[in-house]
Amino acid sequence: MALRFEILGRFNRARAAQLTLPHFVCQTPLFMPVGTQGTIKGLATNQLEEIGCQIILGNTYHLALRPTSELIDELGGLHQFMNWPRALLTDSGGFQMVSLLHLADITEKGVTFQSPVDGKPMLLTPEESIQIQNRIGADIIMALDDVVKTTITGPRIEEAMYRTLRWIDRCIAAHKRPHEQNLFGIVQGGLDPVLRDICVRGLVDRNLPGYAIGGLAGGESKDSFWRVVAQCTAALPEDKPRYVMGVGYPLDIVVCSALGADMYDCVYPTRTARFGTALVPEGVLKLKHNAMADDTRPIDPTCACMVCRTYSRAYIHCLVTKDAMGSQLLSYHNLYYMMKLSRDLHTSIIEGRFPEFVCNFLRMMFPKGD
Ligand code: GUN
Ligand code: ZN
Repeated sequence: MALRFEILGRFNRARAAQLTLPHFVCQTPLFMPVGTQGTIKGLATNQLEEIGCQIILGNTYHLALRPTSELIDELGGLHQFMNWPRALLTDSGGFQMVSLLHLADITEKGVTFQSPVDGKPMLLTPEESIQIQNRIGADIIMALDDVVKTTITGPRIEEAMYRTLRWIDRCIAAHKRPHEQNLFGIVQGGLDPVLRDICVRGLVDRNLPGYAIGGLAGGESKDSFWRVVAQCTAALPEDKPRYVMGVGYPLDIVVCSALGADMYDCVYPTRTARFGTALVPEGVLKLKHNAMADDTRPIDPTCACMVCRTYSRAYIHCLVTKDAMGSQLLSYHNLYYMMKLSRDLHTSIIEGRFPEFVCNFLRMMFPKGD
């Protein structure tokens, strides 16, 4: 195991912890921005440090296609290649292929897909995914899992869960750097509590350094989503980090943290920035809106980020559809918002004022109580 997870404080099921990884000592709950090609679109690594990012996420699938894992390995690994001194996590690639390429097909061997480079059929096996992730060198690597949308029902959910369990053993066997990189298993099983339970038990038996809850945030209701998270966090070991994949919205992060989850990742803050939307305590602020054209206030008067200290809504409104700088400034602010949310969760749990923090958060976001 190449991590240490020390719980510093609790409030009911919520935990605040220190997660020591090979490249960085992180405080949880934490949010991980998503960088696809070894970058968070529009932001330099020194800006990500300035914002307070602790871990960033890379995608095996994207990095394997370009610049290729062999080249990253030759150039000293992804940390050195992108000049990021803090922690990195890579996802295994299957989920990206299935969600991006509709041509992807899953068999017992692995995920087959058509190469977007030359159209040739390709196969990503659990062994290959781990080998690629070993070359990339992230602090946390993810097992290749068989993911199905939660909105699908029937035997396919069960097949995917059992296959994910069979694949975890192939991933463990293929992992050549367990003292430098932490392999996390991913709980699948759709919205079925029986399947989720079998999957959690199977993964816990493998004594992995951490566990992810997968297959969520795919269109299911909030109620079903929170139910699955609550079930999984209750069954996963206390002393290991729990990562809810593909989540997300500030509200979901607050709720999942209350349910005992520790880590999150999502493209939402940076993607929504590129569409001209800022995250604010009241919810969202649409900078494209005409009302912003002569608004001299910062995006969020209570935000201490570089963008809010420097620029007006009017200026960002002017940039947002015309210059890349508009989405860069919004991404900067949105990630700052997510980092501040993570820090606030961490400190409010430690200081015994988590319920007050949650009440304030909800009151700001839903002033009418709806
Ligand atoms: N990203 C969001 N959800 C998932 C999932 O279920 N599996 C993987 N590998 N990545 C994800
Ligand atoms: Zn700001």
